[in-house]
Amino acid sequence: MNNREQKGKFITLEGMDGAGKSTHIPLIIELLESRGVEVVSTREPGGTVLGEKLRALLLHESMHAETETLLMFAARREHIANVIEPSLARGAYVLSDRFTDATYAYQCGAKGVLPSKIKQLETWVQDDLRPDATLLFDVPVEISIQRLRSAREPDKFERENAQFFEKLRQAYLKRAAENSHIFHIIDANQSIDKVEVLVKNIMATI
Ligand code: TYD
Repeated sequence: MNNREQKGKFITLEGMDGAGKSTHIPLIIELLESRGVEVVSTREPGGTVLGEKLRALLLHESMHAETETLLMFAARREHIANVIEPSLARGAYVLSDRFTDATYAYQCGAKGVLPSKIKQLETWVQDDLRPDATLLFDVPVEISIQRLRSAREPDKFERENAQFFEKLRQAYLKRAAENSHIFHIIDANQSIDKVEVLVKNIMATI
């Protein structure tokens, strides 16, 4: 629990592109709503009008990895001020499709931005706001690449090679190991039905 006024819970979803997290968002919303709480479902980068404009740049323009990091945190600042904090303060559950762990995985783990720089931005932009729980959808790299091939037109991140994806996966697993009180790792290399059962079991503990 944080020092800020927070009555609701902040839940984030993470994983490599193609891990399948988006498939399970409707189920998670339904599970939370069945508790009779307000659910605010949002995403990063994005979640606000300005954030969505930054998302369009981030997903399609090539740029220095530190520029990318700064823009991710600029969008995040807006998202926290306008969506996340007000929602948590009035008691809503906020479900965000990605948050700062994605910056540690993509910009730090896969693209080499120093973790100390990300940490500084995290402290600046978030103060003591951290997710109460994070569901990490984990699949082997080949599976994620296979799934992406059969999906829609790839964005900038989805066009990266297997080596990038491997670094990404390892960075996520390292974050999970270091923050085991927040993370729940889901083996998403199975049928949607089986992953749904895992999601339900985890959500029952949050
Ligand atoms: P994603 O969440 O996968 O959305 P969609 O399912 O619509 O493709 O896309 C967001 C992309 O942004 C994803 O490739 C990861 C990347 N990203 C970062 O690199 N760093 C960040 O901090 C965040 C939040 C996202």
